[in-house]
Amino acid sequence: MNSQNTNKTDNRVIIFDTTLRDGEQSPGCSMNLEEKLRMATVLDEMGVDVIEAGFPIASKGDYESVYEISKLVKNATIAGLCRAREADIEAAGTAIAPAKSRRIHTFISTSPLHMKHKLNMTPEAVLDAIHDSVTMACKFTDDVEWSAEDGSRTDHDFLCRAVETAIAAGATTINIPDTVGYATPADYGFLFTMLRERVPNIDKAVLSVHCHNDLGLAVANSLAGVQAGARQIECTINGIGERAGNAALEEVVMAMRTRADVYDFDNNIDSTQIMRASRTLSKITSFSVQPNKAIVGANAFAHESGIHQDGMLKNAQTYEIMTPESVGLKESEIVLGKHSGRNAFRTKLQELGLDLGDNALNEAFQRFKNLADRKKDIFEEDIIALIDDENLRVSEHLKFGTLGIQAGSQGPQVADLTLFVDGKEVHAESEGNGPVDALFNAIRKIEPHDDAVLLLYKVHAVTQGTDAQAEVTVKLQEGDITTVGQGADVDTMVASCQAYIRALNKLLTQRGKENIGVNP
Ligand code: KIV
Ligand code: ZN
Repeated sequence: MNSQNTNKTDNRVIIFDTTLRDGEQSPGCSMNLEEKLRMATVLDEMGVDVIEAGFPIASKGDYESVYEISKLVKNATIAGLCRAREADIEAAGTAIAPAKSRRIHTFISTSPLHMKHKLNMTPEAVLDAIHDSVTMACKFTDDVEWSAEDGSRTDHDFLCRAVETAIAAGATTINIPDTVGYATPADYGFLFTMLRERVPNIDKAVLSVHCHNDLGLAVANSLAGVQAGARQIECTINGIGERAGNAALEEVVMAMRTRADVYDFDNNIDSTQIMRASRTLSKITSFSVQPNKAIVGANAFAHESGIHQDGMLKNAQTYEIMTPESVGLKESEIVLGKHSGRNAFRTKLQELGLDLGDNALNEAFQRFKNLADRKKDIFEEDIIALIDDENLRVSEHLKFGTLGIQAGSQGPQVADLTLFVDGKEVHAESEGNGPVDALFNAIRKIEPHDDAVLLLYKVHAVTQGTDAQAEVTVKLQEGDITTVGQGADVDTMVASCQAYIRALNKLLTQRGKENIGVNP
């Protein structure tokens, strides 16, 4: 959709994703060209209306990525960011030139604090700069967005004059950022009501929200802005962005979808693509998502308390306000732990293909409770060990042999690994980006499994001190199969190797069962 065609009076909200600009410029989130192209494709496929692809004047690499994304993306409008400077606008204009639908996003600070200390400009000079920058941007495209940086801390009279100037010069979208995450929902909503009442030409532009999360209010503020008349939300996947981040795309979208009774607005996002986008981003950036993060955290659809598990098994709506499928997950997760009840335990056994009689179930449940008191994470392999049913055993195709690691600051890191493959000794040496990577590369050399991805690598010290026992967890995924392996050793690398080959053995076992049509 060309965002310019949006009727400002209807309930359609434009989703403007700035993962590749505001998100990418935050610590730990930088991406190379190939990664940005991969992410842009995912965003386009999920139905984002506008992709802010970067800040072209910032570096040669930024320019190139905006240019390449502009060539690649099929549906979304591509926006390039620029300050109110000729060279910036020129760079943004030429970088987005190959896009089917293009937008220039130009900004300048409007708060007294920023004008005085950052820009060293008078308010009148800022108004002139707004006029000149928007006028110049319009030479490259008729889709021009203007942003009042630090808008939420701007004097209201001045903000009205600035917005009127930008629209008169040709801006078709007016964005009012809460740059420092200072606003409350009431303050922020009021700004939009005020602008709509006081700016004479306001009906010629789409109003936009852009909220940072310094007080944890970015999503609430964005929705308050939309309720007050804004029709564009600027947001990022997983909420990445400067400092505490930006409003999370998945949260604003699912809030509008789940509470349509309050937020009766349409958007173009295919919400079933949300998990894919979240995982693609954390994989690319290695910026992991906190487990209790709304919508995309590992625990967002996981239940451990016995009472909740029991409710979930009877009717999922008892403890879930949206379905896991609606965000692209296969199912909710019942996590077995010390709070779990008999019902959840029995269900887990049934999933594993085990139907125990009442007495056997009671005994197994008691053993499970004892284990859960001692062990933090209970995996399927722990339950299998409790029950010891021969159908559930995993074939030990790979067995650990020996491991030598060359690590340290002089690089390269090398793993020298011997495994037994069906009893036969096989040796491989591999380099990597750090010792763990070198080790996992060596395993891949011995047993290629290119379609499997490493979903989780977690190290946990079981005891204290420098001789602590390390417990490592590895989670692998290949298509629909997800497996977990654990290993424990005083040497973290040995524990990592054991965990990896356990997860891989399970994956190979399950793959084999699927191929011959047996339920795992
Ligand atoms: O937070 C902000 O003010 C921004 C602008 C550049 C739009 O990111
Ligand atoms: Zn921002």
